[in-house]
Amino acid sequence: MRKQILFCAALLLLSILSSVSVVAQDVIPQPNNISYSKGYFTLNKGLKAVTNLTGQDFKVLNQFTSDDMDMPLISMKKPSKAYNVRLICTGTALQATQAQDSARLQGYELEVSPKSITIQSLTPTGLFYGLLTLAQLEKGRQIPCVKVKDTPRFPYRGLMIDCSRHFWTKKFIMKQLDAMAYFKLNRFHWHLTDGGGWRMEVKQYPRLTNETAYRTQSDWVKWWMEKDRKYCPVGTPGAYGGYYTQQDIKDIVRYAAARHITVIPEIEMPGHSDEVVYAYPELSCTGKPYTQSDLCVGKEKTYTFLENVLKEVMQLFPSEYIHIGGDEAERRTWNTCPDCQRLMKEHNLKNTAELQSYFTHRIEQFLNKNGRKLLGWDEIMEGNLAPNAAVMSWRGTDAGIEAAKHKHHVVMAPQQYYYLNMYQDDPMGQPKAQGGYTRLDKIYSYNPLPMTYKGTDVEKYMDGVQACVWTEFISEPDHLEYMLYPRLFALAETGWTKKPTGYVDFHRRALVNVERLKKEGYHVFDLSKEKGPREESRSITIHEALGKPVTYLGRYSEKYRAEGDSSLVNGLRGDWGYLEGRWQGFIDSTGMDVVVDMGKITDIRDVEVDFMHMYDVVIYAPESVTLMVSDDGKNYKTIDKVNPGIKANVPYLLYPYVWKGNVKGRYVRMKALSREPDAWIFTDEIIINRK
Ligand code: ACM
Ligand code: ZN
Repeated sequence: MRKQILFCAALLLLSILSSVSVVAQDVIPQPNNISYSKGYFTLNKGLKAVTNLTGQDFKVLNQFTSDDMDMPLISMKKPSKAYNVRLICTGTALQATQAQDSARLQGYELEVSPKSITIQSLTPTGLFYGLLTLAQLEKGRQIPCVKVKDTPRFPYRGLMIDCSRHFWTKKFIMKQLDAMAYFKLNRFHWHLTDGGGWRMEVKQYPRLTNETAYRTQSDWVKWWMEKDRKYCPVGTPGAYGGYYTQQDIKDIVRYAAARHITVIPEIEMPGHSDEVVYAYPELSCTGKPYTQSDLCVGKEKTYTFLENVLKEVMQLFPSEYIHIGGDEAERRTWNTCPDCQRLMKEHNLKNTAELQSYFTHRIEQFLNKNGRKLLGWDEIMEGNLAPNAAVMSWRGTDAGIEAAKHKHHVVMAPQQYYYLNMYQDDPMGQPKAQGGYTRLDKIYSYNPLPMTYKGTDVEKYMDGVQACVWTEFISEPDHLEYMLYPRLFALAETGWTKKPTGYVDFHRRALVNVERLKKEGYHVFDLSKEKGPREESRSITIHEALGKPVTYLGRYSEKYRAEGDSSLVNGLRGDWGYLEGRWQGFIDSTGMDVVVDMGKITDIRDVEVDFMHMYDVVIYAPESVTLMVSDDGKNYKTIDKVNPGIKANVPYLLYPYVWKGNVKGRYVRMKALSREPDAWIFTDEIIINRK
């Protein structure tokens, strides 16, 4: 009897497992509320699909189903049940126009049975998302029978591409819009202007593109960092760059709208405006190009210029939000400029942060008067935040939370999770990227809205999430795609899915979608070959100095303190990047000079210390490393000194200092000197007598 029960239980388990494996779907983002039943609907040739959409909505959806799903639509006021596939919009025209700002209005219900498919939504946007789920469920023209009731977690799910540092063609942008739509992203934040070149044709100010859209060379480091910086006029032989004509912009905006993506243009001001100051030096404080990034905010003609530019921007972009940058203004020349100083006095502004705030308020008033809203990077909160402004939180998450608490709309784009220009795997096997290490699972782990904010203004005003890719070190289309995918999948899932199914399940679906994108001609990071975290960081390193007192003769910087005084003897080794709180950074002229007190005279047999070298962020392997021991903590004997001899321009490596021998001593002192006054030294652990 017992055997029989066990046998039945095994059978039951088998049947559950087999039914699960039949319906194991790989949709990204994971739909909210999906249930399966037996069977499939087969997408036969000549399948008829019907919808009650009319006019432009019909045209746009029909184009998508015809081109991408081989399933043309018929428009019919009351879709007849005689058709197998029915897409029914149940909402009003007003709801349709509000869909981009409302998660509820982007929702849909999808039902697939062996004989029929029905998608219902209040809006055409919801129907579009229902179709995308359908497209992702399809395998070999078969769709498993399902019921899906799905609304996104956030109304705003975005991607920013920096088109200034390197220029990306219209065709390339459209290709990324296709992928964004496939993963239900709905905001393309277009970083159009910056020191790398102005990219948008402005009829009233032709010098912007004629004089700055091209430059002497493509390589960012050579062009910008090594001070060989020159813009060149359009048509200069061999010049690098490009810009979008107003027609290109209209085409991209229309292409995006057909995929239910709003394009939000970013026109940087008052900082990151080197190119504007070059084209129109009279808009700067000093009139000297190549010496400052900021516009002069004290001159009236700056406001006239910006308002005229924004007028053309508003004609081209229907987006309610216009992004005005606002980040990293130097505010340097404002301190001495007579115009800026006069304005500060006139308005009783105490400092340059308040001056920038005055500027932002004025720009906001102009946008609001024209029926638009201002969106800016979180620096716009310094001084005091313009009354209706929305904030994009990039310097971590605190600014976004704070702004939302004060009833400002917020988009979370924290750099430590959502800057996709960071490394995604062991930097030694990766193309050059910027400082941090942002693995797929780290992005997936970010929860923008922890439970503590449930029901609060933070929940109410958090519009959503956005990934950003800055392109200083990315000059090739394949490289940019490689940085975007699959990491963008994780953002898509966080933005859409209310109850994540866990990283193991997400990773499985990501692998499938990597293959899908590859088939469609995208150049994608091969997730199946991901090395993952640095081996040493995965477990505690056991050694005899663990937990011993440490004295710093050359102190770490508070900015990169890791766990402070215990950090180098806590057994916790760093990962590939320096931003995760395990690597400790030293910048003072004393370099790193650290004494570990072993507590008693000890046989010292081995000492190991890793040093990071990351050229672009001026973290260098040390010029010299000296190991000393002492019995009394006063008189030290040098037992080893090495000069690693690492070339400064090596993009990335971890230099492993190792000493082996046999000496006695109580105090072990490690001194590492920097090769240049402004270079960092980073280390993660002093391992003494490894066990
Ligand atoms: C930024 O990364 N400066 C917004
Ligand atoms: Zn000025």
